[in-house]
Amino acid sequence: MSNYSIKNLEEYFQLYRKSVREPETFWEEIAEEHFVWRKRWTKVLQWDFSKPEVTWFENAKLNITENCIDRHLHIRGDKTAILFEPNDPKEKAQHITYNELYSRVCKMANVLKDKGVKKGDRVCIYLPMIPELAVSVLACARIGAVHSVVFAGFSAQALSTRINDSDCKMVITSDGSFRGSKTIDLKGIVDLALEECKGVHSVLVAKRINSEVKMKQGRDQWLQPLLDKAKATYTAEVMDAEDPLFILYTSGSTGKPKGMVHSSAGYMVYTAYTFKNIFKYQENDVYWCTADIGWITGHSYIVYGPLANGATTVMFEGVPTYPHYGRFWQIVEKHKVNQFYTAPTAIRALAKESLDYVDKHDLSSLKVLGTVGEPINEEAWHWYNNNIGKHKSPIVDTWWQTETGGIMISPIPYVTPTTPTFATLPFIGVQLALMDEKGEELKGNQVEGRLCIKFPWPSMARTIWGDHKRYFDTYFSAYDNKYFTGDGAKRDAVGYYRITGRVDDVIIVSGHNLGTAPIEDAINEHPAVAESAIVGFPHDIKGNALYGFVILKEIGESRKQENLRKEINQQITEHIGPIAKLDKIQFVPGLPKTRSGKIMRRILRKIASGDTSNLGDISTLLNPEVVEAIIEDAQ
Ligand code: PRX
Repeated sequence: MSNYSIKNLEEYFQLYRKSVREPETFWEEIAEEHFVWRKRWTKVLQWDFSKPEVTWFENAKLNITENCIDRHLHIRGDKTAILFEPNDPKEKAQHITYNELYSRVCKMANVLKDKGVKKGDRVCIYLPMIPELAVSVLACARIGAVHSVVFAGFSAQALSTRINDSDCKMVITSDGSFRGSKTIDLKGIVDLALEECKGVHSVLVAKRINSEVKMKQGRDQWLQPLLDKAKATYTAEVMDAEDPLFILYTSGSTGKPKGMVHSSAGYMVYTAYTFKNIFKYQENDVYWCTADIGWITGHSYIVYGPLANGATTVMFEGVPTYPHYGRFWQIVEKHKVNQFYTAPTAIRALAKESLDYVDKHDLSSLKVLGTVGEPINEEAWHWYNNNIGKHKSPIVDTWWQTETGGIMISPIPYVTPTTPTFATLPFIGVQLALMDEKGEELKGNQVEGRLCIKFPWPSMARTIWGDHKRYFDTYFSAYDNKYFTGDGAKRDAVGYYRITGRVDDVIIVSGHNLGTAPIEDAINEHPAVAESAIVGFPHDIKGNALYGFVILKEIGESRKQENLRKEINQQITEHIGPIAKLDKIQFVPGLPKTRSGKIMRRILRKIASGDTSNLGDISTLLNPEVVEAIIEDAQ
């Protein structure tokens, strides 16, 4: 167990140095000691970022579900694997043991196989946070099908784009979902989406809200009766280390979403190792990550990382504010949660409410607190530290991305001294670089630049589904031989990293990555709209909110404009989902453009954030006069 659990700072530095000096030996030892393999690898790492091609544990054979489930059965078969906490606190929590998880996953695997899903086929999973979601993910992995989970807040159109992009032949969904006091008609959304997806032959429907749904004959089936008849064992498919485990879509700054493809072996090794160290998980701890499995955080740190360590992982169906603002803390007390991992936006929302919601609950079980998804501001960090951690649970501010598969920069709790708003030090094996505008690496400390990674790590995405060139162009073309993250960062005097935010046209709203281009495309489809530009502006709770500058084909009277604002947001909801709705919409006579026709977002960002004192040189614009007009009317 030596290298698997980092005990002090000296050990961290020692291991870090080893992971840089002898990366192959370092990861080989971890892989060898802590996982079960059907066949050993012939080479630990091959890589070439100029293509880019990366292979970890070449020729090894395994099935990740044997590592996440089977191998635990004889030692912790009766331990809770998944602790399901429903949306409604009056509904009973479910403790799904490793034994039960095994039979549920095997039954689901048999159902998929019976429906003709084969190794390598893509299956779209569009489910709320109910146990069937984790079970479906694992069942796909067990039969070697590639899962593509789509967050169940995305619209029909966003869903169909994702289904078609990766050519899924099956969709697993539910009749609907509970979200706070609301229900959402998921099956209706799937029906609408599938009008555009000719390749989908079967839809399996889990029952959750007991609503009336239309079932299309020959295509749709209720899931439960099929599971009831299915056999509770299934021999796991033997997978190659580099076989794709899943596709997960993330927004790009341009064009359609990018289906990031993750591998089997490297992903498993890295998510398991980071989980163990960054959450300091001990046997019998109860770990809770509040993310949705529809995002990478849920894949890596609700499902795969925790289960590969034999952990108890909480799956929460609901929202932090229902039925009251104390829901999170009530759950921490109820299940005696030891590690709690959430997003800054949730902390900011709850910090606005009375402390009574916190103080009513016994939070003494907590040992480690985590944040992810966006920079955490100092105020939120202190609120979390004072009121939830009570100064005794270290906060791990974890920086990573859908593309990185696992956490890349983070303190190690009880090991790395924390500083508010700093993600601190690279995790073992992670070789960071900050680049200046000329493309040179910034050496030494107290520097700020663009954050890159200069050496492969096991859980990095291997490609974008169906578009390897885009993978190269997006991540490997900006700097020679380096993965470019899209983020800016500072390195302070002691070598700690602080993420300063995106440097591209991705905006992070409530921890969700949103590309400006797809939102603008959605707006521009409205018949009254000529052109639009979206920028982010600071928001107390969401971190950033969206501000749309829209040119109309005709300037109508103001009542008509009010309706148009609603219609534009409706349009966005239909194309993408409610998470991408605009907080402010300003109708403008023109957009500031360079002489080559590029929108000057820098100026729009300043106007949106109310900072118009120093717009810089606008004389080079094609149309400097529109800037004045926009400022005059700004909201
Ligand atoms: O800008 C960074 C921000 O979230 C982006 C990645 O988003 P996504 O792929 O959706 O994955 C989110 C969950 C891993 C990053 O490029 N980000 C993520 N974590 C942090 C962060 N920004 C600052 N601090 C963080 N801890």
